[in-house]
Amino acid sequence: MNRTILITLLILMLLNVSLSFSEVSKIQFSSNDNSLKFVSSKYVSQSQTYQGKLIKVRAYEKIIYVKHPVDSNKQVINIYIPEEYFVGESINGFNTNTAPIFFPNHIGGYMSADPAKFMVTEQSTPNSMNNRTVLYALSKGYIVASAGARGRLTKDLDGHNIGKAPAAIVDLKAAIRYLKFNDQIMPGDANKIISNGTSAGGAISSLLGASGNHPDFGPYLTALGAANASDDIFAVSAYCPIINLENADMAYEWQLSNIHTFDFRGKKGDLNNEELGVSQDLKKMFPPYLNQLSLKNVNGDLLTLDSNGNGNFKEIVKAFIVKSAQKAVDSGSDLTHYSFLNIVHNKVMFVDFDGYMQYIGRMKTPPAFDALTSSSFENNLFGNETVNSRHFTNYSFTHSKEINPQIADKLQINMMNPMHYIGNSNAKVAKNWRIRHGAKDRDTGFAIPLMLSMLLQNKGYTVDFAMPWDKPHSGDYDLDELFHWMDNLCK
Ligand code: DHB
Repeated sequence: MNRTILITLLILMLLNVSLSFSEVSKIQFSSNDNSLKFVSSKYVSQSQTYQGKLIKVRAYEKIIYVKHPVDSNKQVINIYIPEEYFVGESINGFNTNTAPIFFPNHIGGYMSADPAKFMVTEQSTPNSMNNRTVLYALSKGYIVASAGARGRLTKDLDGHNIGKAPAAIVDLKAAIRYLKFNDQIMPGDANKIISNGTSAGGAISSLLGASGNHPDFGPYLTALGAANASDDIFAVSAYCPIINLENADMAYEWQLSNIHTFDFRGKKGDLNNEELGVSQDLKKMFPPYLNQLSLKNVNGDLLTLDSNGNGNFKEIVKAFIVKSAQKAVDSGSDLTHYSFLNIVHNKVMFVDFDGYMQYIGRMKTPPAFDALTSSSFENNLFGNETVNSRHFTNYSFTHSKEINPQIADKLQINMMNPMHYIGNSNAKVAKNWRIRHGAKDRDTGFAIPLMLSMLLQNKGYTVDFAMPWDKPHSGDYDLDELFHWMDNLCK
């Protein structure tokens, strides 16, 4: 019972008014928030056949998940609940009380996102890929709850920016709070929320898992009128998360400084002399960053890099590439034509790091994230209400080509970085993590998801990290494996 209720009861007692139990619970309810109560009667029935199975759901769509939305088109959640759970049946061993809640987001490029949908029309084709994931989840008995979020280009009616960092993570946290607030009245188990996303969406998914209930986000959630509940989650699935942005430029050059051609969103070319110089500067800055993380391998050995960028951390990156190639070989792929792989009797013995980098190539020019002209997605993410784009590293700020360069606030930068919250005693970190980064992904360096995985593991969380062979920057390509992992966690 909270203070307000206690004081109300004391006043009523003084006034000699006696209350029945139902009246007490009414007071308790009004002290929370009626407008964020899940209304189980407000649904439409939807059905479609998926892999030969008829999937019937109650669809609760476009529910505004905060009391004071600033963007009522995006701050909405879609919830799909299998019809079976309303008639006492079970699916895949789950029932109305135990069904986990799968929480996929459609965030990409740090742009605003709509929630995922069960029924997809021709007009909404960008969602159609991930709609398969929604159907898959429902077919396995998961409740699907997907929230929209503001993004870096979102503006209010006055033209002010309202979607810069940390808007997207604040929105998804508010949606989690909505689900937890309604746990008693909604089917499913809000203690089993599993978030999923790809790229920028993978970043926000991992940030949700890393920063549960952290007070940094409190004032933003209060301002939106988020439900009075916690926002920590049970598990994270993240595909190619574009995270650790303020350290990603160095990690990219540590990996790709020998690759002098780029292929960036339709534009190809050679790095110029200035870019080659920037690449060398950034490359040298990575080992000190990596070393101060004090990451350890499974044997407890410290992972380090020397000033040339060599050391046992690099060996671990190579080991993940070898493991990836081995899995492809084991499932029947012939990789013997790749000169960068040494394969003896179907065993991948080692990878030539530089040869492999020549093979996958470089996508971005240095600095890959904090562009000297402040022109990247990420510069745009770190704007504020009135400034569209800002720097977020000292290197790019001091080397900026802008006339009046600006740099984002430290807190704003920290609030987008899961690395900042793992091990922080004020954050409740998700226990279970599955991180995938395609072995052919060049959108960020391999060190980025690896450092996240190692840090989580070192802090005692369970991590399943792999780099699927030949996969470019993409997600949701291994749903059988993903849901197998989820089933194991939840049962
Ligand atoms: C995404 C890709 C990028 O290369 C990047 O820098 C940020 C976001 C994306 O696909 O979401």
